[in-house]
Amino acid sequence: MIQVPVVLGERTYQVLVGSGTRHSLSALLPVGARRAAVVTQEAVGVEVDPGIENRRFVIGPGEAAKTLSTVEDLCRGFAQWGLTRADVVVSVGGGVVTDVAGFAAASYHRGLSVVHVATTLLAQVDAAIGGKTGVNLPEGKNLVGAFWQPAAVICDTEVLASLPAREWASGLGEMAKYSFLGEPGLEELALDERIARCVALKAEVVAADEREDGRRALLNYGHTLAHALEAVGLRPDRAWDLRHGEAVATGLAFAALLAERLGRIGADRVGDHLRVLGAYGLAAELPAGARVGDLVEVMARDKKATAGLTFVLDGRAGLEVVAGVPTAQVEQILVAMGAEP
Ligand code: GLY
Repeated sequence: MIQVPVVLGERTYQVLVGSGTRHSLSALLPVGARRAAVVTQEAVGVEVDPGIENRRFVIGPGEAAKTLSTVEDLCRGFAQWGLTRADVVVSVGGGVVTDVAGFAAASYHRGLSVVHVATTLLAQVDAAIGGKTGVNLPEGKNLVGAFWQPAAVICDTEVLASLPAREWASGLGEMAKYSFLGEPGLEELALDERIARCVALKAEVVAADEREDGRRALLNYGHTLAHALEAVGLRPDRAWDLRHGEAVATGLAFAALLAERLGRIGADRVGDHLRVLGAYGLAAELPAGARVGDLVEVMARDKKATAGLTFVLDGRAGLEVVAGVPTAQVEQILVAMGAEP
């Protein structure tokens, strides 16, 4: 078992990584917690034992459950059960569950403790760590939420054995970004060690910039195009099936090509990106039918884009946020990657 601290003063917490770590849940609950509301999805299929009185709250399937109405249902269920601030929420699942349960915990009674038991690779290396919680609106993803740090996070690698192939690919796409955030050679490590390194890197960034006033934005490497692909993919006339991390993998390849086009990196560094993506078996391709205009329009509305098209890009000094990227350069790279003009 590997223990990684997220150092945030009196809100410091531990992330446990390793096979069977879910059995340590009861020891990680806040001292004095009397009852645990266990929030999960049916498909997760992972049982936990909080060691105190508990009740299971099952939210709907998939990303569709990431709504304000799910949070309302949860909070009403907590209220009907009589949950108080002295109790705890335990999320058991992937990023949808940790985001929704975390936001319900942040909001109910103006905040009670939450412990995340992350059951997907993507949640273990990203979603469950660092306190971002929230839900989607019809107008966009993650538009309502709160920073709410958990009391502890469990990354049980034993439960990953039953992860469907597409979920693996999604987690690997998110993991690939860490190779360019200061963890070269990551892909060669054993899984537990690799997850722990990703957690440690994210923990260090979050400890330095909890509310994303600066460096934390670098964790969104590859995400500007990824979010656009996900948003456009929800439109009925596009409707491609792309997991978040698969979209991030494509976003990483795009970001490398764009950085090269802007003279920030050389072909060798683009090659490093493609090698890491290849080592993880990630195709990193645009979905058939992706159109340049749709993608550029959504990227122009990105939260970071306050001064023209804005991306996290690699460069000689490492990753940085680059604003005012010329639209024509972006369009050329998208066309080169197979988008329809
Ligand atoms: N997923 C990026 C972050 O937590 O900041």
